[in-house]
Amino acid sequence: MAVRKSREEWKIYGNVFDKFTIQVLQKLEAKGLFDHLASAVALGKEANVFTATQKKDLVVVKIYRLENCNFRKMYDYLRHDPRYIHTKPSKRFVVFSWCQREYRNLLAAREAGVRCPTPLGFKDNVLVMTLIGKKSTVAKQLKDLAPEDPEKFAGLVLKDVRKLWKHGLVHGDLSSFNILIHDEKPYFIDFSQASPTKAPNAKELLERDLKNLAKFFKKLDLVLDVEAEKVKILA
Ligand SMILES: Nc1ncnc2c1ncn2[C@@H]1O[C@H](COP(=O)(O)OP(=O)(O)O)[C@@H](O)[C@H]1O
Ligand SMILES: [Mg+2]
Repeated sequence: MAVRKSREEWKIYGNVFDKFTIQVLQKLEAKGLFDHLASAVALGKEANVFTATQKKDLVVVKIYRLENCNFRKMYDYLRHDPRYIHTKPSKRFVVFSWCQREYRNLLAAREAGVRCPTPLGFKDNVLVMTLIGKKSTVAKQLKDLAPEDPEKFAGLVLKDVRKLWKHGLVHGDLSSFNILIHDEKPYFIDFSQASPTKAPNAKELLERDLKNLAKFFKKLDLVLDVEAEKVKILA
């Protein structure tokens, strides 16, 4: 399949693309994972997120920056994960592993039956996944939209935390920023920090996730007993 975009054309999306990343995007495009980038969704700490057209659909393209990333933090997190214990302390390699890890984690989370994007493919520092939202409207983050029935919503969140743990994974960065609200249901995103439950820091990550949720639920007048929930999950 022909590569549709020249390097010059990619440049219109801003200065976030280095030569290497443009080539990766062209390869994913040539593989048919998407047709062309549509619009910017978010410029985050570690990644830039775009929507892209894929035939009649929209998909999400998450581009991990090769520069301006928190390499130290990423490296430390990776080395706690038994799957990435031998990661070399090379910046590029760490970013690639981080991206691959999000892909693998999303696959596992889908297998677990957790509401989250379906990963469609990845290469090096670029991940392509399904869009959470309706047609061209991207779902809002929980921090920006209160659920109509907070109690029911919180129940669904905790159900997926349990499902994930039972399937051997803990999210590790769960907050109202990384939960989207779509059709009044929670969708977990941003899985690059998710770790196997057998990782030495897994219980710590679980506790942190629950504490973050408890803090947010409190704003909705809900009480989450972190200790009791932890006991229930670990039982
Ligand atoms: N699959 C998706 N569907 C819809 N919106 C998404 C999707 N993935 C990411 N986003 C949007 O992009 C933002 C940043 O993505 P995220 O994966 O959280 O990256 P970061 O590591 O920069 O926080 C999210 O808060 C969300 O608004
Ligand atoms: Mg995020």
